[in-house]
Amino acid sequence: MTQIFRRSADTWLRVGLLLLIVGLSGGLLVALTLEGTDYRTGRNWVVEQPLPFSHAHHAGELKIDCRYCHSAVQSSAIASLPPTETCMSCHSQVWKNADVLAPLRMSLREHEPMHWQRVVELPDYVYFHHGVHVNAGVGCSECHGQVDRMQLMFKAQPLNMGQCLACHRDPAPHLRPVDQVTNMQWRTDEDRRALGERLMKAHPIEIRGLTDCGTCHR
Ligand code: HEC
Ligand code: HEC
Ligand code: HEC
Ligand code: HEC
Ligand code: HEC
Repeated sequence: MTQIFRRSADTWLRVGLLLLIVGLSGGLLVALTLEGTDYRTGRNWVVEQPLPFSHAHHAGELKIDCRYCHSAVQSSAIASLPPTETCMSCHSQVWKNADVLAPLRMSLREHEPMHWQRVVELPDYVYFHHGVHVNAGVGCSECHGQVDRMQLMFKAQPLNMGQCLACHRDPAPHLRPVDQVTNMQWRTDEDRRALGERLMKAHPIEIRGLTDCGTCHR
């Protein structure tokens, strides 16, 4: 009988299979390691902006309320970014001629909005609504961290599905009185869970359905 495969073919087949298995499991390992890491979620990354706007200065030191600039946050799905006019309510007087504010003056002159780069953004297939959370007593800092200390904005929390679900399963310890949602210094001596449960009864917040896929993927 003629030999179709040389004897070494068998060895090559084994070596090939081995390499394939090593390669696949290695790739899987890398993928699993990256999943949930800062690299994958973009956490703690500072994004380049048209000018170095400081939340630490404006929200922290000057104590301007978040809603002065993110005015839609309580009433709609999006929080919204401020138009140039909002900045100019002060900067037409304060630091009027500062070089760092040149892009702002240009934007006003040319009627061209500032091109702020987004820092916290979900994929299109996820539905999110700010108003629902803010009115339920979930503070900005639960999802955005200590914004009042950020020189430049960065994403402080992964805000991935795991984080959404963890709170949706058990929101009580994350809630606060609604009039404190933008207060970055808010603390309480009361037990967070006891307070949260009381707030959930009063609002009222129904957790049934909050972890259904269709709540966030519609
Ligand atoms: C309520 C008033 C107010 C508003 C509104 C305001 N600023 Fe300011 N901003 C200030 C003051 C006050 C200073 C600091 C002046 C100083 O340090 O003496 C300042 C400083 C700055 C600086 C200099 C760097 C720094 O942070 O010290 C930049 C840049 C700046 N503002 C950008 C903006 C932009 C962009 C907006 C709109 C999104 C804005 N500001 C809205 C009051 C305001
Ligand atoms: C004076 C106006 C002003 C105030 C007050 C302010 N912000 Fe902002 N915020 C901005 C501007 C301008 C940007 C876009 C530039 C940037 O990302 O730094 C922004 C960006 C953000 C972003 C990132 C949005 C994205 O996806 O790009 C978050 C989150 C945010 N602000 C939260 C807050 C919170 C929380 C507060 C209150 C503690 C607050 N901001 C107060 C002007 C303001
Ligand atoms: C439950 C979590 C959560 C809370 C609470 C929350 N945010 Fe956000 N925020 C997000 C997510 C998620 C995004 C990205 C939304 C997207 O891409 O659709 C976002 C985006 C933003 C943006 C970018 C612009 C926009 O309209 O999407 C700003 C500004 C912002 N948030 C400000 C605030 C402020 C101010 C508060 C408090 C009053 C707040 N957020 C409370 C999760 C939250
Ligand atoms: C810290 C707690 C917390 C986190 C984190 C959180 N949520 Fe929620 N979410 C709530 C609470 C509480 C409610 C219920 C509010 C109510 O019933 O009034 C809610 C309700 C919702 C709803 C229902 C809105 C509606 O139409 O009634 C959606 C959608 C939603 N969340 C999406 C998300 C997504 C997407 C994320 C992650 C990016 C997220 N949430 C993260 C606490 C949280
Ligand atoms: C509370 C909100 C919420 C609920 C409920 C939810 N998801 Fe998600 N899901 C997210 C967010 C936010 C992302 C995008 C961020 C990420 O990759 O984790 C996501 C991403 C995904 C992805 C893409 C994953 C990837 O790695 O690219 C799939 C698939 C998915 N969800 C399926 C589901 C299924 C199935 C359910 C029901 C069992 C579900 N989700 C329930 C918020 C939610």
